[in-house]
Amino acid sequence: MDNKPLILTVAVLGGTGKEGKGLAYRWAKAGYQVLIGSRSPEKAITASAEIIGLLEGSGSVVGMSNPQAAQQANIVVLTVPYAAHRETLESVKDVLKGKILVDVTSLSVPPMVTKVQMLPAGSATQEAREIVGEGVEVVAAFQSISHKHLLTDEDVDCDVLVTGTSKDARAEVLKLVEAAGLIGWDAGPIENSVVVEGLASVLRYINKQYGSTHSGIRITGVSRNS
Ligand SMILES: NC(=O)c1ccc[n+]([C@@H]2O[C@H](COP(=O)([O-])OP(=O)(O)OC[C@H]3O[C@@H](n4cnc5c(N)ncnc54)[C@H](OP(=O)(O)O)[C@@H]3O)[C@@H](O)[C@H]2O)c1
Repeated sequence: MDNKPLILTVAVLGGTGKEGKGLAYRWAKAGYQVLIGSRSPEKAITASAEIIGLLEGSGSVVGMSNPQAAQQANIVVLTVPYAAHRETLESVKDVLKGKILVDVTSLSVPPMVTKVQMLPAGSATQEAREIVGEGVEVVAAFQSISHKHLLTDEDVDCDVLVTGTSKDARAEVLKLVEAAGLIGWDAGPIENSVVVEGLASVLRYINKQYGSTHSGIRITGVSRNS
C-alpha cells in the first residue's frame, strides 16, 4: 500500500491554539504544506513564525484567516473550543465542498470537563456534519491526544481513533495521524465519534484522579498487518 500522503495542504483552523499548533508543527515537519487559520490573520502569522522557528526554517507554514485557509487546503482540521465550533464552521462551510473536515473537538463545557456530555446531534462531529451539509466528508480524530505531547519530537504513548463519514475519508485522515508520528485506527462510522469524543472526558477524569496531565489509550489484541 502507498503510504505517501495524497493530500499535501492542510488547514488548521484555530491553529493558533494549543492543540492546533502542535498538530501543525508535526505535519509541517512531515513535509505537509500547513495553513494556520485564525479569526485574526496577524495572530495566525505570528503562530506560523513560531512553528517555522521550531523547525529551524525548514517547514512550509503560512498564517491567514480561517476562511482563506479552508479555501486553499484539501483537508481542513478544526481545533477550536466547542464554544467556537458552530461559529467557525459557519464561517468556512461554503468552501468545504468536496473536502475532508477533521473535527478535533471534544465537548468539555466547564465545569463538567470530566463528565461525558452529549449533544442532540450525538457528538460535536455529527453536529459539524449537520452544519456543513452534504458534499463534505466529516471525520473525528485526535481527541485523545493531549497538546502537551505535540509541540515536541517525543514519541506519544497514545493511539488515535478515527471515525467518520466514509472509509476513504478515514483512510486519508489515518495518513495524517501517521504523519504526526502517531498510531491510528479506523474506528468506524461517524456515529462512533460519540465514544471517541467522550473518551476525552474519561481521560480528563483519569488525569485528575491519578495526578497526570496526559493519560492515553492503546488498542490491543489486533495485528497491524491484518
Ligand atoms: N488542548 C488539548 O490538549 C486538546 C486535546 C484534544 C482535543 N482538544 C480539543 O481541541 C480543541 C481546541 O483545544 P485547544 O486547547 O487548542 O483550545 P484553545 O487553545 O483554547 O483555542 C484554540 C483556538 O480557538 C480559537 N478560539 C478560542 N476561543 C474562541 C472563541 N470563543 N471563538 C472563536 N474562536 C475561538 C482561538 O483562535 P483565534 O483566536 O486565532 O481565532 C484559539 O487559539 C477543543 O475542542 C479541545 O476540546 C484539545
